[in-house]
Amino acid sequence: PAPLSQIQEEILALKRERNAVILAHNYQIESIQRIADYVGDSLGLAYQAQQAQADVILFCGVHFMAETAKIVNPSRTVLLPDLDAGCSLSDSCPAGQLAAYKAAHPDTYVVAYINCSAAVKALSDVICTSGNAAKIVARVPADKKILFVPDQNLGQWVRQQTGRDMQLWPGSCYAHVQFTVAAIEKIRSQFPGAPVVAHPECVQAVRDIADEVCSTELMIGFAKKTPAREIIVVTESGMLHRLQREVPDKTFIAGPTDTCACNDCRFMKMNTIEKVRDALKNMSPAIEMPEDIRAAAFAPIQRMLDWSK
Ligand code: 13P
Ligand code: SF4
Repeated sequence: PAPLSQIQEEILALKRERNAVILAHNYQIESIQRIADYVGDSLGLAYQAQQAQADVILFCGVHFMAETAKIVNPSRTVLLPDLDAGCSLSDSCPAGQLAAYKAAHPDTYVVAYINCSAAVKALSDVICTSGNAAKIVARVPADKKILFVPDQNLGQWVRQQTGRDMQLWPGSCYAHVQFTVAAIEKIRSQFPGAPVVAHPECVQAVRDIADEVCSTELMIGFAKKTPAREIIVVTESGMLHRLQREVPDKTFIAGPTDTCACNDCRFMKMNTIEKVRDALKNMSPAIEMPEDIRAAAFAPIQRMLDWSK
Protein backbone atom coordinates (compact mmCIF):
# COMPACT_ATOMS: atom_id res chain seq x y z
CA PRO A 1 0.00 0.00 0.00
CA ALA A 2 1.02 3.62 -0.62
CA PRO A 3 2.66 5.41 2.33
CA LEU A 4 0.37 7.43 4.57
CA SER A 5 -0.07 11.12 3.81
CA GLN A 6 1.10 13.80 6.19
CA ILE A 7 -2.41 14.43 7.45
CA GLN A 8 -2.99 10.70 8.05
CA GLU A 9 0.26 10.56 10.08
CA GLU A 10 -0.88 13.64 11.98
CA ILE A 11 -4.17 11.90 12.85
CA LEU A 12 -2.36 8.80 14.11
CA ALA A 13 -0.13 10.96 16.33
CA LEU A 14 -3.17 12.82 17.71
CA LYS A 15 -4.89 9.49 18.26
CA ARG A 16 -2.06 8.33 20.54
CA GLU A 17 -1.97 11.67 22.32
CA ARG A 18 -5.72 11.63 23.02
CA ASN A 19 -5.87 7.88 23.71
CA ALA A 20 -8.51 7.53 21.01
CA VAL A 21 -9.85 4.65 18.96
CA ILE A 22 -11.04 5.31 15.40
CA LEU A 23 -14.14 3.42 14.27
CA ALA A 24 -15.22 3.79 10.65
CA HIS A 25 -18.21 2.60 8.66
CA ASN A 26 -17.70 0.72 5.39
CA TYR A 27 -19.03 3.76 3.46
CA GLN A 28 -16.28 6.14 4.56
CA ILE A 29 -13.71 7.43 2.06
CA GLU A 30 -10.63 5.28 1.58
CA SER A 31 -8.18 7.62 3.34
CA ILE A 32 -10.32 7.43 6.51
CA GLN A 33 -10.79 3.65 6.28
CA ARG A 34 -7.02 3.22 6.10
CA ILE A 35 -6.30 4.90 9.42
CA ALA A 36 -9.24 3.35 11.31
CA ASP A 37 -8.71 0.75 14.04
CA TYR A 38 -11.90 -0.96 12.94
CA VAL A 39 -13.97 -0.71 9.75
CA GLY A 40 -17.34 -2.45 9.61
CA ASP A 41 -21.13 -2.37 9.47
CA SER A 42 -23.52 -0.90 12.02
CA LEU A 43 -23.66 -4.08 14.08
CA GLY A 44 -19.89 -4.57 14.24
CA LEU A 45 -19.44 -0.90 15.07
CA ALA A 46 -21.97 -1.11 17.93
CA TYR A 47 -20.08 -4.05 19.47
CA GLN A 48 -16.73 -2.29 19.01
CA ALA A 49 -18.06 0.89 20.61
CA GLN A 50 -19.40 -1.01 23.59
CA GLN A 51 -16.07 -2.74 24.18
CA ALA A 52 -13.91 0.35 23.60
CA GLN A 53 -11.49 1.06 26.44
CA ALA A 54 -9.95 4.23 24.98
CA ASP A 55 -10.88 7.62 26.46
CA VAL A 56 -12.11 8.86 23.10
CA ILE A 57 -14.10 7.16 20.34
CA LEU A 58 -13.66 9.02 17.06
CA PHE A 59 -16.60 7.80 15.04
CA CYS A 60 -16.34 8.11 11.26
CA GLY A 61 -19.87 7.46 10.08
CA VAL A 62 -23.20 9.26 10.45
CA HIS A 63 -24.88 10.81 13.47
CA PHE A 64 -27.09 7.90 14.56
CA MET A 65 -24.05 5.59 14.60
CA ALA A 66 -22.02 7.94 16.80
CA GLU A 67 -25.07 8.37 19.02
CA THR A 68 -25.30 4.59 19.35
CA ALA A 69 -21.64 4.52 20.44
CA LYS A 70 -22.39 7.10 23.13
CA ILE A 71 -25.50 5.19 24.28
CA VAL A 72 -23.57 1.94 24.78
CA ASN A 73 -20.41 3.52 26.22
CA PRO A 74 -21.40 6.83 27.87
CA SER A 75 -18.24 7.40 29.92
CA ARG A 76 -16.17 7.90 26.73
CA THR A 77 -16.00 11.07 24.68
CA VAL A 78 -17.57 10.27 21.31
CA LEU A 79 -16.50 12.55 18.45
CA LEU A 80 -18.19 12.81 15.05
CA PRO A 81 -16.18 14.80 12.47
CA ASP A 82 -19.30 16.54 11.11
CA LEU A 83 -22.46 16.82 13.22
CA ASP A 84 -24.50 17.46 10.05
CA ALA A 85 -23.72 13.95 8.77
CA GLY A 86 -27.29 12.72 9.21
CA CYS A 87 -29.31 10.02 7.45
CA SER A 88 -32.49 10.27 5.37
CA LEU A 89 -33.82 7.09 6.93
CA SER A 90 -33.33 8.38 10.43
CA ASP A 91 -35.01 11.66 9.45
CA SER A 92 -38.01 9.81 8.04
CA CYS A 93 -39.13 8.76 11.52
CA PRO A 94 -39.38 11.72 13.91
CA ALA A 95 -39.78 10.66 17.55
CA GLY A 96 -42.96 12.76 17.95
CA GLN A 97 -44.71 10.86 15.15
CA LEU A 98 -43.68 7.51 16.58
CA ALA A 99 -44.90 8.54 20.03
CA ALA A 100 -48.26 9.54 18.48
CA TYR A 101 -48.53 6.17 16.70
CA LYS A 102 -47.80 4.33 19.93
CA ALA A 103 -50.40 6.39 21.79
CA ALA A 104 -53.00 5.44 19.15
CA HIS A 105 -51.89 1.77 19.10
CA PRO A 106 -50.80 1.01 22.67
CA ASP A 107 -50.17 -2.72 22.15
CA THR A 108 -47.51 -2.11 19.44
CA TYR A 109 -44.10 -3.80 19.71
CA VAL A 110 -41.58 -1.50 18.02
CA VAL A 111 -38.63 -3.05 16.19
CA ALA A 112 -36.36 -0.19 15.14
CA TYR A 113 -33.65 -0.45 12.53
CA ILE A 114 -30.54 1.12 14.07
CA ASN A 115 -30.74 3.94 11.47
CA CYS A 116 -32.85 6.12 13.79
CA SER A 117 -32.33 8.79 16.45
CA ALA A 118 -31.69 8.13 20.14
CA ALA A 119 -35.18 9.51 20.84
CA VAL A 120 -36.72 6.89 18.52
CA LYS A 121 -34.61 4.14 20.05
CA ALA A 122 -35.88 5.26 23.45
CA LEU A 123 -39.46 4.54 22.23
CA SER A 124 -38.55 1.11 20.82
CA ASP A 125 -38.63 -2.42 22.21
CA VAL A 126 -35.69 -3.85 20.31
CA ILE A 127 -33.17 -2.55 17.77
CA CYS A 128 -31.89 -4.42 14.74
CA THR A 129 -29.35 -3.82 11.99
CA SER A 130 -29.35 -5.08 8.42
CA GLY A 131 -26.96 -7.79 9.62
CA ASN A 132 -29.34 -9.30 12.18
CA ALA A 133 -32.84 -8.01 11.32
CA ALA A 134 -34.39 -11.37 10.42
CA LYS A 135 -32.87 -13.01 13.49
CA ILE A 136 -34.16 -10.28 15.80
CA VAL A 137 -37.69 -10.23 14.35
CA ALA A 138 -37.84 -14.03 14.61
CA ARG A 139 -37.17 -13.69 18.37
CA VAL A 140 -40.12 -11.34 19.01
CA PRO A 141 -42.86 -13.29 20.85
CA ALA A 142 -45.52 -14.48 18.37
CA ASP A 143 -48.41 -12.70 20.12
CA LYS A 144 -46.87 -9.22 19.62
CA LYS A 145 -48.06 -6.83 16.91
CA ILE A 146 -44.87 -5.48 15.35
CA LEU A 147 -44.31 -2.02 13.93
CA PHE A 148 -41.03 -1.94 12.00
CA VAL A 149 -39.39 1.52 11.72
CA PRO A 150 -38.08 3.40 9.76
CA ASP A 151 -37.10 1.46 6.60
CA GLN A 152 -39.98 -0.01 4.61
CA ASN A 153 -37.58 -1.78 2.22
CA LEU A 154 -35.63 -3.59 4.90
CA GLY A 155 -38.97 -4.25 6.61
CA GLN A 156 -40.44 -5.89 3.48
CA TRP A 157 -37.32 -8.01 3.11
CA VAL A 158 -37.50 -9.16 6.73
CA ARG A 159 -41.19 -9.92 6.29
CA GLN A 160 -40.27 -12.20 3.37
CA GLN A 161 -37.42 -13.82 5.30
CA THR A 162 -39.37 -14.52 8.47
CA GLY A 163 -42.98 -14.77 7.25
CA ARG A 164 -43.83 -12.46 10.15
CA ASP A 165 -46.59 -9.92 9.65
CA MET A 166 -45.41 -6.40 10.48
CA GLN A 167 -46.65 -2.86 10.01
CA LEU A 168 -44.01 -0.87 8.11
CA TRP A 169 -43.11 2.76 8.69
CA PRO A 170 -42.96 4.51 5.29
CA GLY A 171 -39.27 5.54 5.43
CA SER A 172 -36.44 4.84 3.00
CA CYS A 173 -32.78 5.52 2.30
CA TYR A 174 -32.59 8.20 -0.37
CA ALA A 175 -29.35 6.67 -1.74
CA HIS A 176 -30.32 2.99 -1.94
CA VAL A 177 -33.70 3.66 -3.59
CA GLN A 178 -31.85 5.22 -6.54
CA PHE A 179 -30.76 1.79 -7.75
CA THR A 180 -33.10 0.58 -10.50
CA VAL A 181 -33.65 -2.74 -12.26
CA ALA A 182 -32.80 -1.11 -15.62
CA ALA A 183 -29.42 0.20 -14.38
CA ILE A 184 -28.52 -3.13 -12.74
CA GLU A 185 -29.56 -5.18 -15.79
CA LYS A 186 -27.43 -2.90 -17.97
CA ILE A 187 -24.26 -3.41 -15.90
CA ARG A 188 -25.03 -7.11 -15.69
CA SER A 189 -25.03 -7.37 -19.48
CA GLN A 190 -21.54 -5.83 -19.46
CA PHE A 191 -20.27 -8.37 -16.89
CA PRO A 192 -22.15 -11.58 -17.70
CA GLY A 193 -21.75 -14.15 -14.96
CA ALA A 194 -20.92 -11.58 -12.26
CA PRO A 195 -23.25 -12.10 -9.29
CA VAL A 196 -25.16 -9.10 -7.95
CA VAL A 197 -25.03 -8.49 -4.20
CA ALA A 198 -27.47 -5.85 -2.93
CA HIS A 199 -28.19 -4.12 0.37
CA PRO A 200 -31.69 -4.75 1.78
CA GLU A 201 -32.39 -0.98 1.74
CA CYS A 202 -32.78 -1.30 -2.06
CA VAL A 203 -36.33 -1.48 -3.43
CA GLN A 204 -37.93 -4.89 -3.79
CA ALA A 205 -37.61 -5.06 -7.60
CA VAL A 206 -33.83 -4.64 -7.25
CA ARG A 207 -33.59 -7.10 -4.36
CA ASP A 208 -35.56 -9.61 -6.45
CA ILE A 209 -32.95 -9.66 -9.23
CA ALA A 210 -29.97 -9.82 -6.84
CA ASP A 211 -28.12 -13.08 -6.25
CA GLU A 212 -27.57 -12.17 -2.61
CA VAL A 213 -29.15 -9.56 -0.31
CA CYS A 214 -27.19 -8.73 2.83
CA SER A 215 -25.61 -6.15 5.13
CA THR A 216 -22.33 -4.54 4.17
CA GLU A 217 -20.34 -6.82 6.49
CA LEU A 218 -21.93 -9.98 5.12
CA MET A 219 -20.92 -8.81 1.62
CA ILE A 220 -17.30 -9.53 2.61
CA GLY A 221 -18.15 -13.16 3.38
CA PHE A 222 -20.14 -13.46 0.14
CA ALA A 223 -17.22 -12.04 -1.89
CA LYS A 224 -14.78 -14.52 -0.32
CA LYS A 225 -17.06 -17.50 -0.80
CA THR A 226 -18.35 -17.05 -4.36
CA PRO A 227 -16.27 -18.71 -7.09
CA ALA A 228 -16.96 -15.66 -9.32
CA ARG A 229 -14.01 -13.34 -10.03
CA GLU A 230 -16.15 -10.26 -10.68
CA ILE A 231 -18.94 -9.07 -8.38
CA ILE A 232 -21.49 -6.27 -8.85
CA VAL A 233 -21.97 -4.43 -5.55
CA VAL A 234 -25.30 -2.64 -5.17
CA THR A 235 -24.75 -0.36 -2.22
CA GLU A 236 -22.93 2.85 -1.34
CA SER A 237 -19.63 3.16 -3.19
CA GLY A 238 -17.33 3.30 -0.12
CA MET A 239 -17.98 -0.41 0.29
CA LEU A 240 -15.75 -1.10 -2.69
CA HIS A 241 -12.63 0.08 -0.80
CA ARG A 242 -13.29 -2.35 2.02
CA LEU A 243 -14.03 -5.24 -0.38
CA GLN A 244 -10.92 -4.55 -2.46
CA ARG A 245 -8.75 -4.51 0.65
CA GLU A 246 -10.20 -7.71 2.11
CA VAL A 247 -10.56 -9.65 -1.14
CA PRO A 248 -7.75 -8.24 -3.33
CA ASP A 249 -7.79 -10.99 -5.95
CA LYS A 250 -11.34 -10.22 -7.14
CA THR A 251 -12.84 -7.31 -9.09
CA PHE A 252 -15.71 -5.30 -7.66
CA ILE A 253 -18.01 -3.32 -9.88
CA ALA A 254 -20.02 -0.47 -8.38
CA GLY A 255 -23.76 -0.82 -8.86
CA PRO A 256 -24.84 2.15 -11.02
CA THR A 257 -28.01 4.25 -10.84
CA ASP A 258 -29.82 5.64 -13.89
CA THR A 259 -27.72 8.81 -13.71
CA CYS A 260 -24.45 7.83 -12.02
CA ALA A 261 -21.78 5.13 -12.42
CA CYS A 262 -21.73 4.67 -8.65
CA ASN A 263 -23.74 5.86 -5.68
CA ASP A 264 -22.40 7.98 -2.82
CA CYS A 265 -24.33 8.76 0.37
CA ARG A 266 -23.97 12.52 0.74
CA PHE A 267 -24.11 12.21 4.54
CA MET A 268 -21.39 9.56 4.82
CA LYS A 269 -19.21 11.65 2.52
CA MET A 270 -19.43 14.74 4.75
CA ASN A 271 -16.59 13.33 6.82
CA THR A 272 -13.31 14.40 5.25
CA ILE A 273 -9.77 13.58 6.37
CA GLU A 274 -9.31 17.24 7.47
CA LYS A 275 -12.45 17.10 9.63
CA VAL A 276 -11.20 13.87 11.22
CA ARG A 277 -7.95 15.59 12.15
CA ASP A 278 -9.72 18.70 13.44
CA ALA A 279 -12.12 16.65 15.58
CA LEU A 280 -9.18 15.02 17.40
CA LYS A 281 -7.31 18.30 17.64
CA ASN A 282 -10.28 20.24 19.07
CA MET A 283 -11.96 17.30 20.84
CA SER A 284 -15.12 18.49 19.12
CA PRO A 285 -17.84 18.04 17.88
CA ALA A 286 -18.79 15.59 20.63
CA ILE A 287 -22.06 13.68 20.98
CA GLU A 288 -24.10 14.56 24.05
CA MET A 289 -27.62 13.58 25.07
CA PRO A 290 -29.85 13.73 28.14
CA GLU A 291 -29.24 10.77 30.47
CA ASP A 292 -32.92 9.74 30.55
CA ILE A 293 -32.98 9.40 26.74
CA ARG A 294 -29.65 7.54 26.76
CA ALA A 295 -30.80 5.06 29.38
CA ALA A 296 -34.13 4.47 27.61
CA ALA A 297 -32.34 4.01 24.27
CA PHE A 298 -29.82 1.61 25.80
CA ALA A 299 -32.35 -1.07 26.82
CA PRO A 300 -33.48 -2.03 23.26
CA ILE A 301 -29.87 -1.91 21.99
CA GLN A 302 -28.73 -4.22 24.78
CA ARG A 303 -31.62 -6.55 23.91
CA MET A 304 -30.39 -6.63 20.31
CA LEU A 305 -26.77 -7.28 21.32
CA ASP A 306 -27.93 -10.15 23.56
CA TRP A 307 -30.31 -11.62 20.97
CA SER A 308 -27.84 -11.49 18.11
CA LYS A 309 -24.96 -13.23 19.88
P1 13P B 1 -24.91 -1.66 7.30
O1 13P B 1 -25.21 -1.87 8.73
O2 13P B 1 -25.30 -2.81 6.42
O3 13P B 1 -23.48 -1.29 7.10
O4 13P B 1 -25.81 -0.46 6.74
C1 13P B 1 -25.70 0.84 7.24
C2 13P B 1 -26.29 1.82 6.34
O5 13P B 1 -26.38 3.00 6.61
C3 13P B 1 -26.79 1.33 5.08
O6 13P B 1 -27.15 2.39 4.29
FE1 SF4 C 1 -28.63 6.74 5.80
FE2 SF4 C 1 -28.82 5.76 3.37
FE3 SF4 C 1 -26.72 7.20 4.02
FE4 SF4 C 1 -27.04 4.73 5.04
S1 SF4 C 1 -26.67 5.25 2.91
S2 SF4 C 1 -26.43 6.58 6.15
S3 SF4 C 1 -29.25 4.66 5.26
S4 SF4 C 1 -28.84 7.93 3.93
